[in-house]
Amino acid sequence: MRLEHKVAIITGAANGIGLEAAKTFAKEGAKVIMADYDVETGGIRAAELRNEGHDVAFVQVNVANRESVDQMVNQSVEQYGKIDILINNAGITRDAMLTKMASEDFQRVLDVNLTGVFHCTQAVVPYMVEQGKGKIVVTSSVSGVYGNVGQTNYAAAKAGVIGMVKTWAKELGRKGINVNAVAPGFTETNMVAAVPEKVIQQMVAMVPLQRLGKPEDIAKAYLYLASDDADYVTGTVLHVDGGIMM
Ligand code: CAA
Ligand code: NAI
Repeated sequence: MRLEHKVAIITGAANGIGLEAAKTFAKEGAKVIMADYDVETGGIRAAELRNEGHDVAFVQVNVANRESVDQMVNQSVEQYGKIDILINNAGITRDAMLTKMASEDFQRVLDVNLTGVFHCTQAVVPYMVEQGKGKIVVTSSVSGVYGNVGQTNYAAAKAGVIGMVKTWAKELGRKGINVNAVAPGFTETNMVAAVPEKVIQQMVAMVPLQRLGKPEDIAKAYLYLASDDADYVTGTVLHVDGGIMM
């Protein structure tokens, strides 16, 4: 097993890619803190995994709120004694064309997708520094790398996290902490379910592998970057997008 004895916090783990990552990590032997705003679904999913014999806990968090993030980290350390891995996966969209985008929707997406990543990473890093080792993964997006119609706010946040990842890789490398990003293409989750079918078809037509991503495609990339296999990888952006970014 690739994550035996490791403790991993995965944000946004109640649904979609984060949920798949929680399952993957648990099967690889990790103790998983499934952290999400959605307490109802998250609680049910965590209970299902526990019933399968995995060591997982659900913690409610709003990553946009620093106090809530501190509580999440305190609870995780109380329960498992350490944090080896942080997967900054929680995210939202509030799509609109530039001319129609409300300031509140611009700000909300930055609060969750950019500031939320800052909060969670800043809160866990002291524990990783103390143990001289840690793995941090941040979820960017194809939209943050080459933009996307209707996503001014989201593209800004997902581009912004790449800047933070590269900065943190430089700051934290000497402390034994690896920081990397995964940039998924359009992936089959609730987030994409709201996209007009016409836009999806246009996207798939541009993907060399000719399909949308599946949550497990992204979870496997998280697993690689969270494992010891990636000990000499830091500051990178791993594109898991069927080749659309070439
Ligand atoms: N490429 C080029 N032009 C586009 C376009 C596209 N992908 N999408 C829309 N347009 C054009 C339309 O054809 C239209 O042109 P005209 O004014 O000349 O007719 C114009 O932009 C306005 O489009 P709409 O009529 O659709 O405008 P709207 O205000 O009703 O809706 C929108 C705008 C909310 C952005 C809607 O088009 C939409 O939801 N688009 C999808 C956005 C998207 O791809 N989101 C990704 C969500 S998944 C995710 O975020 C995960 C990830 O990381 C990738
Ligand atoms: P999803 O909508 O299925 O899951 C997102 C999860 O984040 C939900 O469980 C939600 O409750 C949680 N969440 C939202 N706001 C939160 C907050 N403030 N605090 C804590 N949890 C919060 O979406 P999906 O697709 O699984 O997205 C996961 C990540 O992947 C996101 O960062 C997203 O931007 C990114 N991504 C998704 C792509 C896709 O096509 N689905 C493509 C590229 C990136």
